[in-house]
Amino acid sequence: MNSDIFLPSQVAWATGALAGGPLIRKTTRLTDLPGIFADGEAWRRGNPQQSVYDVDVLGSPAGEGALCVGVTHLHTGNVGDEFFMTRGHFHARREQGEVYFGLRGVGLLLLQTEAGDARLEEVTAGSVHIIPPFTAHRLINTGKETLSSLAVWPVIAGHDYAALAEGFALRVFTSGQGFEVRHG
Ligand code: F6R
Ligand code: ZN
Repeated sequence: MNSDIFLPSQVAWATGALAGGPLIRKTTRLTDLPGIFADGEAWRRGNPQQSVYDVDVLGSPAGEGALCVGVTHLHTGNVGDEFFMTRGHFHARREQGEVYFGLRGVGLLLLQTEAGDARLEEVTAGSVHIIPPFTAHRLINTGKETLSSLAVWPVIAGHDYAALAEGFALRVFTSGQGFEVRHG
């Protein structure tokens, strides 16, 4: 009898679907993202109930040293000419980093230091993104399908959204078949 062997949770690499464990899903809709997109009029014209992204998190780990595992499914779309993106945050515990892995779709990971220096990394299936301490992060879907990304972060990290009330230093807009990066 192998009564000591437990079946772990599973991630389907092609889709990012998590299974085999208690899962908490949080859906962020257009109405939840006031002031996030550059074109406020376009945001108001959109369907407030439209889902922009879903985040599935495995279990409810707690305490110093525990890790959270979650998958963000960022849908395709735009507000005006700006691509759908996550709200973006610093960790409340600024010294805590995180790792993102691209699973499906194409997009960008926007990273920004506390000094306001911003850079972008390409997210594709298989890409690995090490988010350093003291660095805000946001996903942007520049593709034509859902962008799914697996993330692992310390449960104590917490989220600080307020520190980015003025927005990130870079924005990404549609341009022909591709994208264009603008400052401010
Ligand atoms: C956790 C983390 C991700 C994001 C998710 C949604 O630290 O970085 O799981 O929480 O991509 O983005 P936000 O939290 O910015 O709405
Ligand atoms: Zn984070």
